[in-house]
Amino acid sequence: TISKTDLLAAKNQEALLGGGAQRMEAQHKKGKLTARERLDLLLDAGSFEEIGKFVMHRATDFGLHKEHYLGDGVVTGYGTIAGRLVYVFSQDFTVFGGSLSETHAEKIVKIMDLALQNGAPVIGLNDSGGARIQEGVVSLGGYADIFYKNTLASGVVPQLSAIMGPCAGGAVYSPAITDFILMVEHTSYMFVTGPSVVKTVTHEEVTSEELGGASTHSAKSGVTHFTAANEVVCIQQLKQLLSYLPQNCEETASSLPYALGQDESRPALDTLIPDNANQPYDMREVVEGIVDAGSFMEVHAAFAENIVVGFARLGGRSIGIVGNQPAVLAGVLDINASTKAARFVRFCDSFNIPLLVLEDVPGFLPGTDQEWRGIITNGAKLLYAFCEATVPRITVITRKAYGGAYDVMNSKHIGADLNYAWPSAEIAVMGAKGAAEIIFKREIAQAEDPAAKLQEKVDDYQQKFATPYRAAHRGFVDEVIMPAQTRQKLIRAFKMLENKVATLPRKKHGNIPL
Ligand code: COA
Repeated sequence: TISKTDLLAAKNQEALLGGGAQRMEAQHKKGKLTARERLDLLLDAGSFEEIGKFVMHRATDFGLHKEHYLGDGVVTGYGTIAGRLVYVFSQDFTVFGGSLSETHAEKIVKIMDLALQNGAPVIGLNDSGGARIQEGVVSLGGYADIFYKNTLASGVVPQLSAIMGPCAGGAVYSPAITDFILMVEHTSYMFVTGPSVVKTVTHEEVTSEELGGASTHSAKSGVTHFTAANEVVCIQQLKQLLSYLPQNCEETASSLPYALGQDESRPALDTLIPDNANQPYDMREVVEGIVDAGSFMEVHAAFAENIVVGFARLGGRSIGIVGNQPAVLAGVLDINASTKAARFVRFCDSFNIPLLVLEDVPGFLPGTDQEWRGIITNGAKLLYAFCEATVPRITVITRKAYGGAYDVMNSKHIGADLNYAWPSAEIAVMGAKGAAEIIFKREIAQAEDPAAKLQEKVDDYQQKFATPYRAAHRGFVDEVIMPAQTRQKLIRAFKMLENKVATLPRKKHGNIPL
């Protein structure tokens, strides 16, 4: 007989083997790491404490009573990343394809409950063939238990999902509810129904990669916020992302030490905006020019590129940035840009991350495509998200602030704390040419030289409105500043706002136009 000590050692050893050496090798051959290798990379060395290592499924149908693996296809527990507590689950594809059984789900729910009670982020590493087919509805119930917990935890603790293999069917909805999704190129995919079902139903021929690979979801659907060339990079991204976030909604993200009093002037910004208002420039250069060197982490970089969102540090402080992107579609707001930015704003507000808005927006995108797909409802999401955000909010108008988009982009009227404008700012109902053509239509038509008349009116309108001064006279703009001063002004302003208290009227929850 085996001694009690040896029995424990044997069981611990067995649990580490997952679905066995052969299946691990198959995993490696696909360019994938195992569940435990991923956790080793993610967590501080030696910090992982496993929970439920010996859990086994209780199913008996289809021969399952004869097939058991300790842990049941998911490694769960807690550990630290850069010294901060996190809860983790890592699905083990070598055990029943990482498929989700009743017990597998129970293990995930258990760490989510701990995360909720103790106020720390949850990181899920997903690699699963979906519901454990042999278990039927019990497995579906397990999914639903997770979705429910994801929703309860939403806005309480950050939830991050890395997709490192298949994630199909019902499995997609847990990551979808979490705050951020990261996908690994070529080895991960997400879809509600796979290529074979698609073929049967719609007769479309499509590969898994095309239907739901990383590049599809980063550029076309916007389902994923980040993509990585491989799993190692993906795990680095998880850690970097986490560094900008607080542990929970009651805390603020920790600041990096920062020596105040150094030269914060950034003269390069003074020459960044082209003289011609129709010439594009890259808003990311403005961002880089303002924030702490190398600190900008763009979110959703390949989706709705006409708006730029991401995290950065400013004087050591973690902030969220939303900027119109004049280099793509002239920085116009459309459906995708609005929903992308709205979700980001709401995330930052949930977790006390101050918002910086960089504004250069010619308006909303016109056309039947946008109208018929609901630019009204979708544009309203961004408006609503800014209106209800109670975190410190500052806007810098770099150039255009036209029409309703001026209101939407964190104007003072909807609760921004401070609004700066550069001398190049044009704050008006629309561009001067369009405006002159409408309000002086008759006068221009009747003029001897209509073209000259139009130009005269355009110049007039331009002089009156294509500046930041009308808005500054009203106090809608607090100060007109030289671009080079922006960084210094913002560091001071966010410090000034750090104890901001703002509350919304009591309600069950708002009704954002979805
Ligand atoms: N339930 C139970 N076992 C599953 C499973 C599931 N949902 N998905 C995969 N497995 C098992 C396989 O039987 C196989 O077991 P084995 O190692 O004993 O042979 C192992 O996991 C690996 O699966 P395999 O199909 O060999 O891997 P693959 O990389 O070729 O394909 C998938 C991966 C996910 C595409 C494929 O397994 C699949 O289509 N699974 C079913 C997906 C699904 O429809 N799920 C239900 C929807 S919610």
